[in-house]
Amino acid sequence: MERFAPGRSFADVGCMWSVDGALAFAAEAAGATSVTGVDVMAPTPAFETERARRGSGVRFVRGDVHDPAVVAEVGRHDVVWCSGLLYHAPNPLLTLERLAQLTGETLLLATEALPEVPGLRGACVFYPGADPRPFAAPGRVGLASPFDAARGYENWWWGITRSALEGMLAATGFRVAEAHDDRLHVTIVANRQ
Ligand SMILES: C[S@@+](CC[C@H](N)C(=O)[O-])C[C@H]1O[C@@H](n2cnc3c(N)ncnc32)[C@H](O)[C@@H]1O
Repeated sequence: MERFAPGRSFADVGCMWSVDGALAFAAEAAGATSVTGVDVMAPTPAFETERARRGSGVRFVRGDVHDPAVVAEVGRHDVVWCSGLLYHAPNPLLTLERLAQLTGETLLLATEALPEVPGLRGACVFYPGADPRPFAAPGRVGLASPFDAARGYENWWWGITRSALEGMLAATGFRVAEAHDDRLHVTIVANRQ
């Protein structure tokens, strides 16, 4: 936040579950000029309480980032933070296209990832067709439990390697500036080309 938020407009896409807008508030505290949080979830009581406590100007837009009307309502921001969303998306290229529409300068993208497949750069695993499913930790819908179409974005849809992610970013108009990678989690700094 201290590096990217000061003096810039900032959006957090997928800002709510388990974090209650904490990253959006952190961006505002770091000196972002305006901050928008976006989520399909309703704002949590913890988010509303914290927004009131801070006298915060963080704007919240409830909606699906894939919906062009939501993208138009959110509008372009200099910096977009999106963490923990991409592997919950059935069409990750569409997700990245929407994030590109929201991003003026820099996308900070964090996602769970798969290790590289030896001899096969750019690999992904489509979890609904995978058996066994890797990383089936308790509570992971579509990994620890069967894929459930009715639960939509709660499912884990895709296991994405870092090389595949970099290819997807290039295909959607981003240039990767940095990648921080512990094999199972990748954080990327990407700029609009
Ligand atoms: C796994 S949580 C990650 C929360 C937080 N960003 C973090 O990194 O801990 C994914 C969040 O993205 C939201 N989300 C998932 N798909 C979305 C979509 N298509 N549009 C908007 N929000 C979405 C979920 O409701 C949830 O709040």
